[in-house]
Amino acid sequence: MVLDKMGDLRRTDYCSELTADRVGDEITVAGSIAKSRDLGGVIFADLRDTTGILQLAFDDSTPKEVFEKASLLRSEYVVIARGTLRRRESVNRALPTGEIELYVTELRILSGAETTPFEIRDEIKVKDDLRLKYRYLDLRRESMHRPIVMRSKIAQLIRNYYCDNHFCEIETPMLIKSTPEGARDYLVPSRVQPGRFYALPQSPQLYKQILMLSGFDRYFQIVRCFRAEDLRADRQPEFTQVDMEMSFADEKDIETVNEGLIKKLFSEILGIEVKTPFPRMPYAEAMSRFGSDKPDTRFGLELMDVSDTVRGCGFGVFTGALEAGGSVRCINAKGLADRLTRKEIDKLTEVVRTYGAKGLAYTRCTAENETSSFEKFLTAEEKAALRSAADVETGDVLLVVADAKNDVVFAALGALRLEIAKKFGLIDPDRFDFLWVTDFPFFEYSEEEGRYMAKHHPFTMPNEEDLDKVETDPANVRARAYDMVLNGCEVGGGSIRINDPELQQRMLRALGFTEERARESFGFLMDAYRYGAPPHGGMAFGFDRLVMLMLKKDSIRDVIAFPKVQNAGEPMSGCPETVEEKQLRELSIALTLPAEE
Ligand code: AMO
Ligand code: AMP
Repeated sequence: MVLDKMGDLRRTDYCSELTADRVGDEITVAGSIAKSRDLGGVIFADLRDTTGILQLAFDDSTPKEVFEKASLLRSEYVVIARGTLRRRESVNRALPTGEIELYVTELRILSGAETTPFEIRDEIKVKDDLRLKYRYLDLRRESMHRPIVMRSKIAQLIRNYYCDNHFCEIETPMLIKSTPEGARDYLVPSRVQPGRFYALPQSPQLYKQILMLSGFDRYFQIVRCFRAEDLRADRQPEFTQVDMEMSFADEKDIETVNEGLIKKLFSEILGIEVKTPFPRMPYAEAMSRFGSDKPDTRFGLELMDVSDTVRGCGFGVFTGALEAGGSVRCINAKGLADRLTRKEIDKLTEVVRTYGAKGLAYTRCTAENETSSFEKFLTAEEKAALRSAADVETGDVLLVVADAKNDVVFAALGALRLEIAKKFGLIDPDRFDFLWVTDFPFFEYSEEEGRYMAKHHPFTMPNEEDLDKVETDPANVRARAYDMVLNGCEVGGGSIRINDPELQQRMLRALGFTEERARESFGFLMDAYRYGAPPHGGMAFGFDRLVMLMLKKDSIRDVIAFPKVQNAGEPMSGCPETVEEKQLRELSIALTLPAEE
């Protein structure tokens, strides 16, 4: 087939922007053939561009050479076509442009196309690895294409919003000294300085603080961040933050600005009016009510602490946990007894086990009978007390976890709550529940490191009321840190920063940094704070997560054009890749891998 050139034809319109009031207009559209039907004397072809689909029509009044060309059209051929917009004879209600079609008078085939490994249609199911290998084809599908376009629209609104509010967009470097956010760094070797490495930013944290000290007052950036951590549905090794920082601000100011942003995005993109201010919930309350610091508040199933009720009872599992300083907590799955069968409870037991719980005790009360895995160890009074404390009635299932470690109880019941809600359809998918989780602990004990680490990051301002506990009772020092939570997902987080170099040094000491190591790591930052530092704070949104939730997608992969997969690789291009010996030599790097079999 001889291909055409575009010549003088140029697109005048995008498919989905055309409406019936343009009927009669001379129009040129360009795109790919989604589907063509040759009905003998009539040919219809669906033309797809980045906005959607328009039907091209050819019939016996079409110039002969155009009609012949139309008969060559196959799926995914790339064309540009000129013609007159007209009403369709049979309206297609499933298509936004279903009332109109382009009666083509000029057609140019700009590219042929081989048969694609899968059909470019949303309705067919295609294996994930095939879709990822041929990502460019997958992205032609409406359900994959649309979110990427929406993502761009959302980014544009974000830019406008911050710029309208005196924020200055500033790019910070990608080759930097490590900024600790708690994940592993991606390292980049320096050729010019052999043996030295840059880190890719886990976030622009240090630079944005420095920008406040440089007098920029309000900064934002839509920025790529890199964290060598395990991939999950809401986590990628490279992802995008909407990062912001502002001077002369406290929590309220930062919350207000960012609630304003969310309000605008939801209103303009989704037509949803979000109520502000968002509810605020201290970390301790989030944990005790929901077993999570990012609670999904769209449904109940709240946790209850029944430690005091079962203290001294005859069930060793409960008393053992309590004696070891732990707790006994439960969830009442109200009205679910008929659906939460023994088999389902066994499955839930497996769920809690993956969070370290040793078991899941239950009492199941259907109208016919009552079964319990542990009530036989309780006296009649103890049993009645527990049932009353947990409001157990006919139709309910009480699920109890006891553990010496509170973290395990929270994690297990927090996950159990979500599992039950998902399984039994207790979540309203049309709801958007925002909240701020506040008053996080400053320190978090790391079993792995055997010491306290900063839960947010070391530059977070501790709560002034807790300063006397920094050295003596670190576990109870609260941070002026906050997360924005949407439907049980942490969409953003930030804090008020320390702007007093002495306090910064003290906090670093408490985190186990020696004077030297602190200087070595953050000397430049601490020096910068000696020359006048406005009070400031900020936050960063996980942009991919925000877009995912707004568009009701299950994974951030669906809103990233070229995502990484489980092994942090990218199947289309096939990275990461080995490199040539010569490149390694230039970087003074020698590999120590065991020889391949
Ligand atoms: P934090 O580490 O909480 O804070 O990150 C901010 C937000 O970024 C998103 N996020 C991720 N999204 C996708 N994949 C990942 N691997 C990933 N990791 C984090 C989350 C998270 O809420 N510098 C601070 C912010 C500040 O203090 O201003 C920071 O990076 O939605
Ligand atoms: P057992 O006496 O080990 O058969 O346990 C009786 C019930 O208690 C079973 O339903 C177990 O799943 C449950 N169970 C065991 N350990 C725990 C725990 N740590 N918390 C809650 N329930 C538990």
